[in-house]
Amino acid sequence: MSTVLVLNGPNLGRLGSREPDVYGSQDMAALKALLEAEAPAGITIDLRQTNDESELISWLYEAVDTASPVILNPAAFTHYSYALRDAAALVTKGGGILVEVHISNPHAREEFRHTSVISGVATGVIAGFGFDSYVLALSSIGRLAS
Ligand code: DQA
Repeated sequence: MSTVLVLNGPNLGRLGSREPDVYGSQDMAALKALLEAEAPAGITIDLRQTNDESELISWLYEAVDTASPVILNPAAFTHYSYALRDAAALVTKGGGILVEVHISNPHAREEFRHTSVISGVATGVIAGFGFDSYVLALSSIGRLAS
């Protein structure tokens, strides 16, 4: 393992100004800096964000092809994208690691957020710890991959 893909779905590019009461006031650049500071030596953090379901799916194919572990915040796709679920399953059923993360705790929010169609094919799920959800995922990946 030399690269961890940190993939973020729709509207997460607006972190910092988007509902700061829910998601905090730090942006994606701050998340990248935090993960780079926490990453063990020799591990590259490749953090990306897209609003496009097809792009997110192609990044999961890339994770399969490069055998890269994935930290995935599927954002709203979490709750209904069977296409993203099937792509996530390609990662884990192929022996790869995919940790689903959420900044907020979706279970403490609106009813529609209580369902994740991704969790059933994820290696594990971490939610509700703000940006620390990603840090916890990174440290779990480090343990699983060693
Ligand atoms: C989120 C939770 C989702 O319900 C929401 O649609 C998001 C962000 C989170 O990180 O808390 O966009 O995935």
